[in-house]
Amino acid sequence: MLPKPSSVIAIYPGSFDPITNGHLDLIERGSRMFDKLIVSILRNDSKQPLFSVEERTEMLLEVVKVYPNLEVDSFNGLLVDHAAAHGATVLLRGIRAISDYEYELQMALMNRRLRPGIETVFMMANEAYSFISSRLVKEVARLGGNVTGLVPPTVEERLQRRMRESKCKGA
Ligand code: PNS
Repeated sequence: MLPKPSSVIAIYPGSFDPITNGHLDLIERGSRMFDKLIVSILRNDSKQPLFSVEERTEMLLEVVKVYPNLEVDSFNGLLVDHAAAHGATVLLRGIRAISDYEYELQMALMNRRLRPGIETVFMMANEAYSFISSRLVKEVARLGGNVTGLVPPTVEERLQRRMRESKCKGA
């Protein structure tokens, strides 16, 4: 049996393109549960993100600076290797609806197979945010809909600016 670590470090991984109020809720609750929480942005340009990793890091830092036990970083490659390199023993993921479960289960089991010492901990999304996803937020913003209350105000401003820029470019 593995010994219980004296301080529990958790990684909250994701694309965060951009961070939503659903992510923020999980971060807030996770920061109360673990000694340290590292929000780790996946560096994956094949997903053609709206915001660069640097922009996503800036947005995250703007909204999470109130939590003293929180760090923001980014990673390439296997999540479990990134976690192990930081001494993390927990991967934190949110579940919004049953439709999230299958994908999350597959990832959790694969990650456990790769590194059995790292546990995935699931938290149920707050029901007020359970319909929010970065993908839908981007779609609504692109089509001129109101995203107030779905993302932090600083993210809303950046989204509107990005949409104006892409319209100017004729995208
Ligand atoms: O917010 P997302 O896009 O649902 O997050 C997905 C993420 C970053 C958790 C997942 O794509 C991931 O862990 N990628 C790293 C690659 C990896 O470790 N793959 C094998 C384990 S399933």
